[in-house]
Amino acid sequence: MRVDRFLSNLPRFNRKQVRLLLVEKRVRIDGKIVSDPHADVLEFSRVEVDDEVLQAGKPARYFMLHKPRGCVSATRDPQHPTVLELIHEPDKHDLHIAGRLDFNTTGLMIITNDGSWSRRLTQPKTRLPKIYYVETEQDIGPEYALKFAEGLYFAFEDLTTLPAGLQVLGPKAARLSIVEGRYHQVKRMFGHFDNKVLRLHRERMGPLVLDSTLEPGEYRPLSAAEIQLI
Ligand code: URA
Repeated sequence: MRVDRFLSNLPRFNRKQVRLLLVEKRVRIDGKIVSDPHADVLEFSRVEVDDEVLQAGKPARYFMLHKPRGCVSATRDPQHPTVLELIHEPDKHDLHIAGRLDFNTTGLMIITNDGSWSRRLTQPKTRLPKIYYVETEQDIGPEYALKFAEGLYFAFEDLTTLPAGLQVLGPKAARLSIVEGRYHQVKRMFGHFDNKVLRLHRERMGPLVLDSTLEPGEYRPLSAAEIQLI
């Protein structure tokens, strides 16, 4: 939210007072004086006027998890283990999953408390490719790549999938690149050819690559450089 709106939403300041506060350089975001009314206040930002703290701010947190088979991409589940149970961090219920994976899908999962960052990672409009390694029951035919590039019609959502790239690695193995994350998307794409997906593993999301030193079930914080890539 813009800082002028953030301040004028508080009952104590009207718009004129907010303009003055900014001109008089009495407002600080994360310790830095701001006078631009368009400056961004995020949910993690610390906002001060003079020496008074109006919003304390919380640190943003970002983790990469190697999701194992047999756990659900949810923060709570009455029956099954959840990915959040693998994360041992304080205040972990502030965290959310950026791009869910099915129960038996393995691979890269990003967990954060930063909603606008995770939207950039997952929204189809940012077109960040999600790369999956896929193994199937039947042979993968030459017609698959063309159909995936054209897009497939999903009747339930009444949409056509955005162009996807298929690299065939063997008779029953391929690498697939998609820019959206529709419900069971990869399985439904192969399902169009009546070909069941037996193994599905997410290798990367945009510029973020699953760390090969992470065993299934292990996680680590993202580095500052990785966070800035998104
Ligand atoms: N597509 C699927 O079908 N399943 C996943 O877990 C991810 C993408």
